[in-house]
Amino acid sequence: MSEVHVHRVKSAWKKNALIDDETYLKWYKDSVKDPEKFWKKHGKRIDWFKPYTKVKNTSFNGKVSIKWFEDGVTNVAYNCIDRHLKKRGNQTAIIWEGDNPYDDKKITYNELYEHVCRLANVMKSRGVKKGDRVTIYMPMIPEATYAMLACARIGAVHSVVFGGFSPDSLAGRIEDCQSDFVITADEGLRGGKKIPLKENTDKAVALAEKAGAKVRHVLVVQRTAGKIGWSEGRDLWYHEETAKAKPDCKPEKMKAEDPLFILYTSGSTGKPKGVLHTTGGYLVYASMTHEYVFDYHDGDVYWCTADVGWVTGHSYIVYGPLANGAITLMFEGVPNYPDASRFWQVVDKHNVNIFYTAPTAIRALMGAGDEFVSRASRKSLRILGSVGEPINPEAWEWYYKVVGDKKSPIVDTWWQTETGGILITPLPGATDLKAGSATRPFFGVQPQLVDGEGQVLEGATSGNLCITDSWPGQMRSVYGDHERFIQTYFSSYKGKYFTGDGCRRDEDGYYWITGRVDDVINVSGHRMGTAEVESALVSHDKVSEAAVVGYPHDVKGQGIYCYVTLMAGEEGSEDLKKELVAHVRSEIGPIASPDKIQFAPGLPKTRSGKIMRRILRKIAEDDYGALGDTSTLADPAVVEDLVENRQNKK
Ligand code: PRX
Repeated sequence: MSEVHVHRVKSAWKKNALIDDETYLKWYKDSVKDPEKFWKKHGKRIDWFKPYTKVKNTSFNGKVSIKWFEDGVTNVAYNCIDRHLKKRGNQTAIIWEGDNPYDDKKITYNELYEHVCRLANVMKSRGVKKGDRVTIYMPMIPEATYAMLACARIGAVHSVVFGGFSPDSLAGRIEDCQSDFVITADEGLRGGKKIPLKENTDKAVALAEKAGAKVRHVLVVQRTAGKIGWSEGRDLWYHEETAKAKPDCKPEKMKAEDPLFILYTSGSTGKPKGVLHTTGGYLVYASMTHEYVFDYHDGDVYWCTADVGWVTGHSYIVYGPLANGAITLMFEGVPNYPDASRFWQVVDKHNVNIFYTAPTAIRALMGAGDEFVSRASRKSLRILGSVGEPINPEAWEWYYKVVGDKKSPIVDTWWQTETGGILITPLPGATDLKAGSATRPFFGVQPQLVDGEGQVLEGATSGNLCITDSWPGQMRSVYGDHERFIQTYFSSYKGKYFTGDGCRRDEDGYYWITGRVDDVINVSGHRMGTAEVESALVSHDKVSEAAVVGYPHDVKGQGIYCYVTLMAGEEGSEDLKKELVAHVRSEIGPIASPDKIQFAPGLPKTRSGKIMRRILRKIAEDDYGALGDTSTLADPAVVEDLVENRQNKK
């Protein structure tokens, strides 16, 4: 292992930082010693219509029940908009930067209020009620934020589906939560290319309705004015409807544990799960982490480059920043359009102080060369963040030295869709940094490393990462399937939340996330179940069996490697590979494009028929010398063929 550089917190960062090391240590100690008292205080950072008297009522055993601030009443949209109006009604809430560098606009908190209220009234007048599920399938335009907040305002539960998912994936998500109202746009625009969102929605609605769902309305934002199909009565234009609606809408009174949103995410088995987040605890946690992890000061311009289709967009573009009255930048485009200098041009253009992105983007930009970075001044930058996958030390050092000119601390934030907010992270004014480590737990978070048998491991060691007690931002259930929630997260290690990640703890108590230990892969920061890709492959009529594993990829972090056994009589060919790639893209979406396909006459299985993935992973990594014991295989000879025809030969 290469030498680890410790980057000490510089006094310049400390001077104005919200949290210094002493405060961190004290607060952390208080937060785990008496969570009730700690969160009773910090729950007040949001406004409540009726204050809570109960703070924490959580159990990771038996039926697993997680309730925070349960008798409090509030509204998320009220907290993200209304309560700021007196002090900062004319302050910018959202800076929108379009795909085209000449396209941008600013939305103040007053304007945000009006947009959200009008849309909320449209939904109400079209029959959307508290508790109803609304699907949002949108490009990165301000209307996506209005849609989320309008749902929150009237108590509807939103399910945002990333615009890169296929009609099939969208249909599955509409159907799973029986959503009868969809908000989309005619087309999205990314890197100069159009994405046919309305066309995809039309296909998805047809598929979902075949499976028993009923979609009453599709509300369509006009983004490109491209040609689209129209279903009279069902489809409505966003601009026409909102123009007719009233500009005020009273926020619904929501109990702390009323659902706020569902977000589908991949697990190691089965179809994507609807991760359910609720109102009060989620907002307290998202806003508190946003403030302290990014050391957010009034007036700072903050930019998270994620898409609102992922949890990072929910918590750190929309809810956390807006609850804090922040200026949040929303970017429609991609890092390399018009060229690889775009991020830094945007930083200069809008004087961005805090910048939060994913390692895959950093690696891709690092590959494009330093000149794209040095062309921009970046003098406004104060803090840099990383999220979504482990950041390799080389990319970390480049981010720190070339992008940040060694002036800005990097917060490497580890968390998950399920956790609602950041759990392990440096705090800029408090934590000495080590390249590649997410460092220490946030307030109230109690990580624990266990071995395969559940033995607790102490000191400097490696193991499976669990969290032993609840925090307010935690997911509450799998939508419509609480049993699956218990099974997935609380059955591996009794009484503990199991994250699915492997992790090392060093002698300073710092955590180093090493990646998933289950059958989940992380491709360019996009989380995917290998089982989903396998089921897409076997749905092709020439495929009899498929096994999918991840392998190390220089830019994407992990690439998708597929072993495919064809039906008897079918021949593998380059054309068929292309056909299979296209098939997976249409079943799941472009983010799931296989990188490598290997035709395999047989897959390595145990005598009981279980596929030995360990072997497939090794072959995909071109590390076939280390296959270990293959004698338990039903047919050891298949391995020879797999090695012989491996696609990643060095
Ligand atoms: O494996 C971890 C990785 O991403 C997984 C969660 O993915 P998702 O639910 O899509 O949420 C991504 C954005 C929060 C985790 O189980 N991961 C996320 N952040 C990091 C990370 N791995 C290492 N370091 C991180 N900072």
